[in-house]
Amino acid sequence: MKKLSNKLSMTLLIILASTSCDNNSNNNNKMTTTDSSQTTKTGITKIDWGEHDGKKVHLYTLVNNKGTEVRITNYGGIVTSFISADNNGNKSDIVLGFNSLDPYLQSPPYFGALIGRYGNRIADAKFTLDGNIYKLAANNGKNHLHGGLKGFDKVVWDASTSSDNASSLTLKYLSKNGEEGYPGNLNVNVQYTLTDDNELKIEYNAETDKATPVNLTNHSYFNLSGDVSNTILDHTLMIDADKYTPVDTTLIPTGELKPVKGTSFDFTTAQKIGSRIGQVTGGYDHNWVLNKKGNEIQRIATLSDSSSGRKLEVFTTEPGLQFYTGNFLDGTIKTSDGKPINKNTALCLETQHFPDSPNKPGFPSTILQPGQKYHTVTVYKLSVSK
Ligand code: GLA
Repeated sequence: MKKLSNKLSMTLLIILASTSCDNNSNNNNKMTTTDSSQTTKTGITKIDWGEHDGKKVHLYTLVNNKGTEVRITNYGGIVTSFISADNNGNKSDIVLGFNSLDPYLQSPPYFGALIGRYGNRIADAKFTLDGNIYKLAANNGKNHLHGGLKGFDKVVWDASTSSDNASSLTLKYLSKNGEEGYPGNLNVNVQYTLTDDNELKIEYNAETDKATPVNLTNHSYFNLSGDVSNTILDHTLMIDADKYTPVDTTLIPTGELKPVKGTSFDFTTAQKIGSRIGQVTGGYDHNWVLNKKGNEIQRIATLSDSSSGRKLEVFTTEPGLQFYTGNFLDGTIKTSDGKPINKNTALCLETQHFPDSPNKPGFPSTILQPGQKYHTVTVYKLSVSK
């Protein structure tokens, strides 16, 4: 995350990106002026970003008519930056990310990445389905986390772009039968769209040829102040959930759906994140059971930062939200401009089904059957109050 005081370098990057377009990218870009010193193009552009597993990696820049920019790479489907204006018109990046591929290959903790085949933990790295026991990689103590040793965050996706109404990047990946221990060939397709209403919309689609658990999400870490020198403890958060799933010491849900009322987990009205975090061992890293019913998309959370005036609303079709306060960040990892990324300097709002659902018959099912279509939608909508 980098404060963009140097607008010249930004402009150069955009020019570079624009001149690197290929047939995949749409060149029907309109010119739009975002402030007096900087001219950006709406639409989507692409630059080379290196290679991994013998495949080309690119960085795509989506720009809307408000001058908001989202950069995404097809390595891990990672959102590397989300640059928007604050209440003074100053632009900065509100997500943790790097400006080159190399740091991502060192496996930072899922910065901005697409997570699959199963977001969050599966207890003891195993589950039983249709009478068969499936063993997964234990990559988080004895548990399985975020799809295993080489989850969807560490593979190179096939990409295509379109800029018809809004800029969209579509990423495709075939997760083969047996990959990371999961059954079935799973064809995954994720579409990122940046709208002119400052919405980053993520649509997840998947189909399988054998029953398998699927739980896809995005692991962006937000700090609405746009500067990792500030923690997120002064941000306020509302989560539309009357219950959450308490966890054991290895962060596996106990199976209980516990009321938040009267606890540090009550975000049904907007609360300062830092006001009660000290009462939660390790910090927040839990799944909230959203009040919404059914598969309709609804607003389920609002995050605000009074210093920048930025507000982020989260809409989803999913039944759960993992709110994680960057508890394992410890300053070891540095931003591209050398600032340590310390504990609580960013937070995740991961829309999802509940952790360990394959082993919890009482939780909503995450099993996708052949012939069924997995389809979920999440929208992160940014606005600013003056
Ligand atoms: C999720 C988990 C956390 C942690 C982070 C990545 O949010 O719930 O416990 O593993 O991912 O560090």
